[in-house]
Amino acid sequence: MSEKIKVAVIGCGGISQFHLDAYQANPRVEIYALCDIDEKQVNKRGAEYSVPPCRRYLDCETMLKDLPEIDAVSVCTWNSAHAPCTIAALKAGKHVLCEKPMALNAKEAQSMIDAAKESGKLLMIGFVRRFGNDCAIMQDLIDDGQFGEIYYAKATYLRRNGNPGGWFGDQSRSGGGPLIDLGVHVIDLTRYLMGNHRPVSVYGATFQKLFNRPDIKLADGYKSVSATDHDICDVEDAVTALIRFDNGSVVSVEASFTLNLEKDKGDIEFFGTKAGAKMDPELHIYSTMNGYMTNINLAAKSALSFDGLFANEINHFVDCVIDGIPCKNPAEDGLTLMRILDGIYESARTGHEVIL
Ligand SMILES: NC(=O)c1ccc[n+]([C@@H]2O[C@H](COP(=O)([O-])OP(=O)(O)OC[C@H]3O[C@@H](n4cnc5c(N)ncnc54)[C@H](O)[C@@H]3O)[C@@H](O)[C@H]2O)c1
Repeated sequence: MSEKIKVAVIGCGGISQFHLDAYQANPRVEIYALCDIDEKQVNKRGAEYSVPPCRRYLDCETMLKDLPEIDAVSVCTWNSAHAPCTIAALKAGKHVLCEKPMALNAKEAQSMIDAAKESGKLLMIGFVRRFGNDCAIMQDLIDDGQFGEIYYAKATYLRRNGNPGGWFGDQSRSGGGPLIDLGVHVIDLTRYLMGNHRPVSVYGATFQKLFNRPDIKLADGYKSVSATDHDICDVEDAVTALIRFDNGSVVSVEASFTLNLEKDKGDIEFFGTKAGAKMDPELHIYSTMNGYMTNINLAAKSALSFDGLFANEINHFVDCVIDGIPCKNPAEDGLTLMRILDGIYESARTGHEVIL
């Protein structure tokens, strides 16, 4: 493989910019080609990142056939295109970084893993929170035994009025609402920090009461590039769930696009035998000193910083591809997350616990 790898990005919407900025800053990468089914988007990103029009594509199969020199791709499409684009790229012999959630469901995720095994190429999943400065601090403290045994955690990602519209609300393209979009981030981060234990059962409930709140006045916030004034909304608007792991630990999950709460909330709490912690957004630690209950804050900044977050993830992907180092976000973890999400949706549908 040449010193600089040639990278293509499939899906040129909102998140592609974070991948492209990081690739652009990496001296071992050439941003070589782009693809989006939306001509306007592929041309916009092409102009921004100096990708010539002859290497801007509207269909990934054609791009992969025309440009065998591509080494690796980022898949940044809406969720329903993750599996087909990833499998096409793997079959064409490319390494793949696929955005979260890995796929629409575990069945698709398994077929992506099968394609990766067959091709012998890397399939990494974009669990970007694993690369956060806040995750590194928690990991360091956990490894040092500061919390003892962590037996319970809360993974929360609540928005008051945050359905991005477009494909995000459309079940056929997203696979679900806040659980698959937001919950996936905090469930993965919590499970990862607690030692990646195997999930054994889930119980969950979803709600569809407020939909995408088209009646809200003076609304602002993140909008998908695919959002229109006529978006459908057939996904859940909130979810609550419990996940039990094989070591007896339990994670409680709450996620919403729309919910009547005071303000958006993205905190994660850990409860251990020696201490507890809240990442909200700075790290707070709840412990004891000589029998006195104590609350500890770090003097250094410990809140999640977006500065360098995606760069850490992309640089790791590039290092995995070029140097063959072990991948921090293997596809198997993406599959496990999809099994958890499938189970929660199934539990919500039936009203019963689902054994995984
Ligand atoms: N890691 C994170 O923090 C994070 C944040 C936002 C989004 N995401 C993920 O990134 C993905 C994209 O989200 P987004 O916010 O950029 O959405 P977006 O709507 O802004 O962009 C998605 C783009 O994919 C394109 N697309 C759809 N199907 C395609 C196909 N078959 N081939 C090529 N292009 C195709 C669309 O035309 C659109 O331009 C989603 O899976 C989402 O969950 C991750």
